[in-house]
Amino acid sequence: MSAPQDTNSASHQLWGGRFEGGIDEAFNHFNRSLPFDKQLVFADIRGSQAWAAALARAGLLTNAEAESLRAGLAKIADAVRAKPSLLDESPEEDVHSFVEGWLIRELGDTGRKLHTGRSRNDQVATDFRLWCRDELDSLVAGLRGLQRAFVERAAAHPTAALPGYTHLQRGQPVLFAHTCLAYVEMLARDEARLIDARKRLNVLPLGSGALAGCAHPVDRAFLAKELGFDDVTHNSLDAVSDRDFVVEILAALSLAGVHLSRFAEDWILYGSSEFAFLELDDSVSTGSSLMPQKKNPDSLELIRGKTGRVVGGLVGILTTLKALPLAYNKDLQEDKEALFDAIRTAAGCLAIATKVVSSVKIRPEKMRDAALKGFLNATELADYLVRKGLPFRTGHEVVGKLVRIALEKGVELENLELKEFQALAPVIGPDVFECLTLEAALKAKALVGGTSPQRVGEEIARHRARLGAK
Ligand code: ARG
Repeated sequence: MSAPQDTNSASHQLWGGRFEGGIDEAFNHFNRSLPFDKQLVFADIRGSQAWAAALARAGLLTNAEAESLRAGLAKIADAVRAKPSLLDESPEEDVHSFVEGWLIRELGDTGRKLHTGRSRNDQVATDFRLWCRDELDSLVAGLRGLQRAFVERAAAHPTAALPGYTHLQRGQPVLFAHTCLAYVEMLARDEARLIDARKRLNVLPLGSGALAGCAHPVDRAFLAKELGFDDVTHNSLDAVSDRDFVVEILAALSLAGVHLSRFAEDWILYGSSEFAFLELDDSVSTGSSLMPQKKNPDSLELIRGKTGRVVGGLVGILTTLKALPLAYNKDLQEDKEALFDAIRTAAGCLAIATKVVSSVKIRPEKMRDAALKGFLNATELADYLVRKGLPFRTGHEVVGKLVRIALEKGVELENLELKEFQALAPVIGPDVFECLTLEAALKAKALVGGTSPQRVGEEIARHRARLGAK
């Protein structure tokens, strides 16, 4: 069965009977969703094949009719795969009328039987869930790919240390690997949220009819099994108008976007001449049309910027859903474009972030220089005084004074003389210099979750085991 050219250009209206006048052209354009819901075509075909089988089991179609519908639907899939522009050329209202219209043109009355007991309301709710399920699986794969890239980047630089910041002021030294694994933690939570959303969306609305349920003895459990759903929905009014899954996916992707934008911001800063901790690969950088020396981190800036449209999609759908009466309302057609865009955007951000992380060049000596300046070991000295028996608050005060002396002399704490330390705290001995080294500061953070090389090494192993090989 090929696309009958002459009939593909004719719109197959699903609801013409009670109308006398035709549709206004501008309104038709405004009303149509095929230009975007065409993405659901394979989900719609899959759902329709299951529905045809369920109708046959219920005795509403002969086996021969069900078989010709199944084959007809498979041929539509083949035709669209071979020539996706068929969807753009079609004048149909939406993807559902595109598929059904084609079947009716090809199969006549058999095609006209497919919609028995079904509404576009339970149909679109089913199609969209099927589509989202596949997309969630690839987003999870993308998130895991990026986590792997961070873990391997961490493993490649086991000793590189840089300043850890609070308020963007140097605080305490941390391993570069520890910073990479911080993003892995965020992304692992994003992954868990998507997996959780997938569980909740994986229930079958089909069989809810337009709003009240279905009057025919269709086996919904069979349909759920056929389409890979874990359960069937239990309230038809809710089932046709529930778009919680759209909100949940957009919320999870918004948060993932926020995480990616924080990472992007960090590495944009680290890549600036002021920090010079790392350099992005040429393959993910661009130049300036005017300033010949420029190498710009556009990849990271776009990742940071694109978060805005995903968050916008979340706010959009929440606003659309707010105060919608039971059950289906056409407002719900507005559920798709933002989600399509958010998923495409998130997938792109994940792919590019993975390239950035896998190809970045790290400058451990620059990181180390920065970590050695600015009293990042002041807390070590206060901890040393605690070990010597001083109350922490007293130690904090002593170290503050020592920092002021060092600032006046223009040196670091470890450059002060022992007698200068002892003038303020006689308990200080010559062993103080050991605790002031960068290595000692790192090694001391030995509790689970700390930045000691041992702990970070264990975390790398834990994440590798969790993420597996590609
Ligand atoms: N294109 C519609 C949507 O995306 C399909 C459902 C239309 N249902 C209806 N009763 N008009 O929401």
